[in-house]
Amino acid sequence: MTASLEFRDLPKIELHLHLEGAAPPAFIRGLAREKSVDIGGIFDENGNYTYRDFDHFLKVYDAACTTLQGPEDFHRLTLAVLEESASHGVIYTESFLSPDFCGGGDLAAWRDYLAAIEAAAAEAETRFGITMRGIITAIRHLGPDQSRNTARVAAETAGDFITGFGLAGAELMGRPGDYTYAFDAAREAGLELTAHAGEWGGPDMVADTIRDLRVSRIGHGINAIHDLALVDVLAETGTVLEVCPGSNVFLNAVKDWPSHPIARLRDRGVKVTVSTDDPPYFLTTMSDEYANLARHFAFGPDDFAELNRTALDAAFCDAKTKERLAARLEKA
Ligand code: HPA
Ligand code: ZN
Repeated sequence: MTASLEFRDLPKIELHLHLEGAAPPAFIRGLAREKSVDIGGIFDENGNYTYRDFDHFLKVYDAACTTLQGPEDFHRLTLAVLEESASHGVIYTESFLSPDFCGGGDLAAWRDYLAAIEAAAAEAETRFGITMRGIITAIRHLGPDQSRNTARVAAETAGDFITGFGLAGAELMGRPGDYTYAFDAAREAGLELTAHAGEWGGPDMVADTIRDLRVSRIGHGINAIHDLALVDVLAETGTVLEVCPGSNVFLNAVKDWPSHPIARLRDRGVKVTVSTDDPPYFLTTMSDEYANLARHFAFGPDDFAELNRTALDAAFCDAKTKERLAARLEKA
């Protein structure tokens, strides 16, 4: 933990953060108390989220989200999350937003939630110096039909703040091609695209995601390492991986930090970036991620500068915002 202090003030770009997954446990407990929602069993004796494996994680995540019941709750959540991220040096964050958790996928309801999230993001930018953009994210285990609705909602609210479309949830349910329609609709609306793949699925899942969904970024993508020809394709096409090593270690997607493939992927020419995914669920922060990269792979200032430049290049925001952020990175 103390090693992470060294990295706290370094400016950072984060591309892969689930807004609800960044909710501090105490925040969720507070909402549960206010609203008399019973979410017993999702916390351990230290007050942290507790679950057995990835599938159970998704269930605990859903249970925690039942306390988030209106736009005002998301306003408070967004402010709390951005304040915490900014305290770890994050100057730009892209957050996955799920209309399914915000009014059940109804467009009119979503507009109210989005207005609240956007207002909180504007307030956080002024108060904490962190810029946020939203990636509307379909939830795989809700199925392809629901993903089409999510894409429609995304297309209707695409703009300066909602700049991307994504896919999260249970990766092994169905195939990427089941979501082609949704991704085509999002692309036509001008949204940039990313999808979780190769966190639990193999290299085939990464390859199919690129072929069928035509994304510029992949969430995780770490299992591409098991097919070096695919790794070379990722490198040649400049496909960017949103790598979340602390998440992978905590969820046992990899054995431990030393065996994590991030450095091997990077050494072979893949554009890698670093994010926290769902930080309180995985007991991590951006400072911890940096400290672990330094400790296990000897990453130094030049490596971190490159990670951040790669992330900023791959960010789903306008050129002017990138220029402003690049100046802040360079000053550091
Ligand atoms: N992986 C996949 N889906 C998710 C996650 C995650 O880490 N967090 C929230 N939805
Ligand atoms: Zn994720």
